[in-house]
Amino acid sequence: MSENILVCIAWPYANADIHQGNVTGSHLPGDIFARYHRLRGNQVVMVSGSDSHGTPVTISAEKQGKTVEAVLDHYHSRFLTLFQRLGITYDLFTTTHTENHAAVSQDIFTNLLENGFLYTKVTQQMYSAAADRFLPDRYVEGTCPNCGYESARGDQCDNCNTLFETPAELVNPYSAQDNSALEMRETEHYFIDLPKLAEQGLDAYLNDENKAHWRPHVINFTRSWLDEGLLSRAVTRDMDWGIPVPVDREGFDRKVMYVWFEAVIGYLSATIEWAKNIGRPEAWRDFWYDDAARNLYFIGKDNIPFHTVIWPAELLGVKGFRSEDADAKLNLPYDVPANQFMNMEGRKISGSRNWGVWMLEALDRHDPDPLRYYLTVTMPESRDSEWTWQGYVNRVNTELIANWGNLANRVLKMTKRYFGGVVPDPGELDERDRALLTAVDASFATIGALYDSCHFRAAVQEAMHISTLVNQYLEATEPWVTAKTDMAQTAKAIYVALQAINGLKVLFAPVLPFTSQRLHEMMGETGQLFGTGVIETLAETERTHTALTYDATDAIGTWARHEIEIGRTLPKPSALFKKYDDSVVEDEIGRLGG
Ligand code: MF3
Ligand code: ZN
Repeated sequence: MSENILVCIAWPYANADIHQGNVTGSHLPGDIFARYHRLRGNQVVMVSGSDSHGTPVTISAEKQGKTVEAVLDHYHSRFLTLFQRLGITYDLFTTTHTENHAAVSQDIFTNLLENGFLYTKVTQQMYSAAADRFLPDRYVEGTCPNCGYESARGDQCDNCNTLFETPAELVNPYSAQDNSALEMRETEHYFIDLPKLAEQGLDAYLNDENKAHWRPHVINFTRSWLDEGLLSRAVTRDMDWGIPVPVDREGFDRKVMYVWFEAVIGYLSATIEWAKNIGRPEAWRDFWYDDAARNLYFIGKDNIPFHTVIWPAELLGVKGFRSEDADAKLNLPYDVPANQFMNMEGRKISGSRNWGVWMLEALDRHDPDPLRYYLTVTMPESRDSEWTWQGYVNRVNTELIANWGNLANRVLKMTKRYFGGVVPDPGELDERDRALLTAVDASFATIGALYDSCHFRAAVQEAMHISTLVNQYLEATEPWVTAKTDMAQTAKAIYVALQAINGLKVLFAPVLPFTSQRLHEMMGETGQLFGTGVIETLAETERTHTALTYDATDAIGTWARHEIEIGRTLPKPSALFKKYDDSVVEDEIGRLGG
């Protein structure tokens, strides 16, 4: 029976290029998972988009002297190209700056308000008379009350390291933008009543014993976050860039929704947009209202509380969203397999220090599959991990190429040399032959279970182990030796090895989609293992936006080894990977810093 699976991936802020830590943290694990389930023949929708609102994007725009829209477009279009070239196959990678997302977010806000989970409260906030606006905390500086340092930030003094609860603790606060003096003023905001939502099901959801499949670090982080006490949180801000608050209340025409409150709603709004784009506008319900559907969230560890507490709380508070059933409940996350962080060459990845692999540029120098391979085998699934260029070269050369790439190449070349490229008749298989093919076939269940439970490192390791078994089989049968004396035995070994690599092609495909597709063609097979990413311009009533979509027209989902028939003529083989020279390490390290 086919399952409905929604693959949700953290929405990157449209204010910086994507580095290898972002890719291994969320986009790649989500893509591997989605591809595995597509091969299984499941209904998969993978969504995300550019997180377009909030201070991260406005601050970048101010720093660069550009409009917010220009910054958003610049990074968004680079994201689309990157995902297309790296094979991150989003069914929809959109933005939070669409009419659809604004409408869905406003519906959710109104729904929560009507159900009594939002309430207003007057708070104190820094106000700039010069700019006639409230300032986000990030813009406030002043004199440290502890050491007297005159340009302490609103949250921390860089001189004595004192942390401030609120920027109101600063003496003589001023605006970091224009140095004008600031004063505290009253401002009203909406708050989401998390304590009430905890009673109404959030506690039960988070203590649910069905969470045995959650990663221990995700559970532990969430528990300790809750132990600190669940407080109501403001869900509106004094800003003009963002989604209008759908209330007719004084002052709210100059406020917008808090970026985190609406960005998480993107998972729902993007599924709705996807359904509309494919011409089946009700199809989103298969993922949000079908109890059996599984929704997974691939994110980095800094995003955990927003996905394990805040977003489930929003979902729990909403009833009858766009439904005829006034009590209809949206699906909660099935799993949040958050990753830890990846460091690089002994330091934290950092944009300002140019310390990272900027993935779009890296694709000009490296093929996608070796990058995907290294990012999978070093994925920070349970603890922080480390990218080193020496490690990259070593693991690509000694594992990916020496074990797998060379195996496929050798078998195809021997088929060509000894049998003119025609799949030979093996005669009767003996026990050793059958044992190998049985091991390959059995691994579809074990490796499949590893992909399904988001143990991607283990899945690749297990596939590599099967590749080792095929190499050992060749060492034992030595078709290059028997070719001189016993063509019947050579035919058997080559036949069996061909069938085995045809299985390995599928086992590796979620991680290595480009080279698996090439091997698929070199085995004389037709069709695409997967669909392809397409960049499109999508029109709404007042806006258009570009998006990455997924065309699965020719895809032939399969999670099994298919027998290649005797007598088939295989096309001319070529190597799947290029071996690296050690000079790459020096060249790449030379690009860092500065
Ligand atoms: N933009 C956030 C970040 O980069 C992630 C947002 S995930 C979402 O950390 F669900 F809120 F969209
Ligand atoms: Zn200080």
